[in-house]
Amino acid sequence: MSTRKKIAIIGAGNIGGELANLCAQKELGDVVLFDIPAKAEYAKGKALDLEQNGAVLGYDVKITGTSDWRDCAGADVIIVTAGVPRKPGQSRDDLVATNLPIIRSVADGAKEHCPNAFVVVISNPLDAMVYELQRRTGFPKEKVVGMAGVLDSARFSLFLAREMNLNIKDIRAMVLGGHGDDMVPILSATTVNGVPVGAFVPKEKLDAIIARTRVGGGEIVKLMGTSAYYAPASAAVSMAESFLFDQKRLLPCAAYLDGQYGYKDIYIGVPVVIGGKGVEKIVELELSADEKAMMAKSAASVQGIVDVVKKSA
Ligand code: APR
Repeated sequence: MSTRKKIAIIGAGNIGGELANLCAQKELGDVVLFDIPAKAEYAKGKALDLEQNGAVLGYDVKITGTSDWRDCAGADVIIVTAGVPRKPGQSRDDLVATNLPIIRSVADGAKEHCPNAFVVVISNPLDAMVYELQRRTGFPKEKVVGMAGVLDSARFSLFLAREMNLNIKDIRAMVLGGHGDDMVPILSATTVNGVPVGAFVPKEKLDAIIARTRVGGGEIVKLMGTSAYYAPASAAVSMAESFLFDQKRLLPCAAYLDGQYGYKDIYIGVPVVIGGKGVEKIVELELSADEKAMMAKSAASVQGIVDVVKKSA
């Protein structure tokens, strides 16, 4: 049996394909691309294409497509993209009815076959789907996280960099809260290599950039007719890498709160340290009164969807 790490990607669609591509190019481990039986051949074809790509680019990991959960057995990391993406005019919350049964079936497969995995959920509505996956599997809360904050912060960083005409590498941005239109940008943690962005961007411009960030996913859905996949995949891979290599990166992720920031029994975006044990720490920032109010609004939206999910349990 191989001692290589194993990464199971659930959902072999747009995000799943890009995830497999990144995991392979970075040689994070062997990759299993899982999808429903109707898409098994598609998943196998994508896996083969990506394996052949290794001959061109010079990476060598095993990539398999499957619709059999047994092939995911023993995965070190599971990244969940199963579900339908948004269409123009839809909010992430509109997806709950379709994606809830999908997340439940993924949870059952993961529970049976991959009980020790670190799980990164991408499916939307994100905060409610990651909540449900943890609830249904009963996996340790520190082993189940949602990908949103890294992506939302990346979008914020890009818009800021372009506005300031500065290199994106020097932008440090932090967006917390739920992965919805009322996400919470934390300006005190948003700097150009430590220099507060307020020194470069006037308030009206900053407000416009925040507004664009909040609907950053929707802007792409409108343009493409489906949701983004390159940046979401990269964001999830950065979380998986932090776990696999015990990097102890501080990343904004949807994590289970048990009193932190004044919230209990909810998954929402907060800064966490991800290391070899999963979420090793939830970092509590001092929020301004404004930020606290935004967080409360965002948490109320998330709770509304979680309540719907709990009622149908
Ligand atoms: N198990 C595994 N895969 C499933 C299941 C299931 N029960 N149900 C659906 N899928 C698969 C679909 O067959 C499809 O191949 O999930 C895949 C989703 O791929 P896309 O339709 O291309 O969607 P994508 O853009 O990758 O987004 C996936 O991530 O960002 C979120 O809102 C987005 O919820 C959506 C998810």
